[in-house]
Amino acid sequence: MFAHITPYPGDPILSLNEDFQKDPRTDKINLSIGIYFDDAGRIPVMGSVQRAEAILAAQVGPKPYLPMEGLPAFRSAVQALLWGESHTAVTGGSIATIQSVGSSGGLKVGADFIHTWFPGSAICVSEPTWDNHKAVFEGAGLSVQTYPYYDPATGGLRFEAMCETLRALPGRTVVLLHACCHNPTGVDLTTAQWDALVPVLKERGLIAFLDLAYQGFGDGIEADAYAVRALTDAGLSFFVANSFSKNMSVYGERCGALSVVCPDAAQAACVLGQLKFTVRRNYSNPPLHAGQLVATVLGTPELRTQWAAEVDAMRARILAMRQRLHDVLQAKLPGRDFGYFLTQRGMFSYTGLTPAQVDRLREEFGVYLVRSGRMCVAGLNERNVERTAAAMAAVLAG
Ligand code: LMR
Repeated sequence: MFAHITPYPGDPILSLNEDFQKDPRTDKINLSIGIYFDDAGRIPVMGSVQRAEAILAAQVGPKPYLPMEGLPAFRSAVQALLWGESHTAVTGGSIATIQSVGSSGGLKVGADFIHTWFPGSAICVSEPTWDNHKAVFEGAGLSVQTYPYYDPATGGLRFEAMCETLRALPGRTVVLLHACCHNPTGVDLTTAQWDALVPVLKERGLIAFLDLAYQGFGDGIEADAYAVRALTDAGLSFFVANSFSKNMSVYGERCGALSVVCPDAAQAACVLGQLKFTVRRNYSNPPLHAGQLVATVLGTPELRTQWAAEVDAMRARILAMRQRLHDVLQAKLPGRDFGYFLTQRGMFSYTGLTPAQVDRLREEFGVYLVRSGRMCVAGLNERNVERTAAAMAAVLAG
């Protein structure tokens, strides 16, 4: 029956993380998967989330199915977080938001919706992008193309080349954009570049799909929503998938959202209805606890304030690790420029290491990076940063 089934070669990120868990070395360092670890090398339990859990535990009750679109309080909280509660798109009801199974679930529901309602639309993703983007959209039946993005020569952005490619796309091509903290490079658009991109999207009639998985880890919770608000204020209709995995440290709860910004409330109601149908035929409805947890953090003013301060502290720690890594590497290899560690934002940096150098880092030094050369800077801490820098310097020196 199953003789024709071929072996799964594994996922470049998740399978590597499994390999890391199996590695018996006690001094191994995990800089592969996009998980924020604290300075003690643990996945933090945020104080605000812990307090929300206590509130929920004190009110244990029946566990009904959520509606297909998720918990109403969660959906409102997401809109308030991304746009601000008094934004006219929010008050006017022109955004259709569903609770999704992580932001990956939001991408998948959005991809299925696009495949149904924009048949023939292709998707264009940055070169490079998160490894799973291609798989999710291809899996939904879209053909995937790329636009230039990362410049290996400078460690920065090929903005002109990116815009030129987007200007040549047929209307209604979907353009996947990382709203902040680009995964895997850490290279983001400036606010001026977002402002320059908006007319390109508008004039060509392109469908923007923003991936906002790291809100708060770039320049701040509000600042990282700049792209979402700029596109909305320009009158664009678009998709945005956001995640709470990282900024609430609730990875396994699988909690994210998909929002579709529409021209008016009537269209948003139809879009929401079709998103519900897409959910129904995928997994029926999202997890109750995840929705309640995030809604409690965001909807309880005291917890919301505490959460924002905790996210600020996480971002500050990532920036401090970037600085330390930069300083040690610069001292060890003064002929090279490691300034990109300081300009790139969020959890990830593209190190420029080749797959062979990444393999050597892992095999010889127990330092795990994704083979593309992506490093999760948020896995560095006071105890491993110098060792990582020394290993990297050894590998780079050949
Ligand atoms: C990552 O990029 O490492 C994370 O988003 C985890 C994942 O699912 O790939």
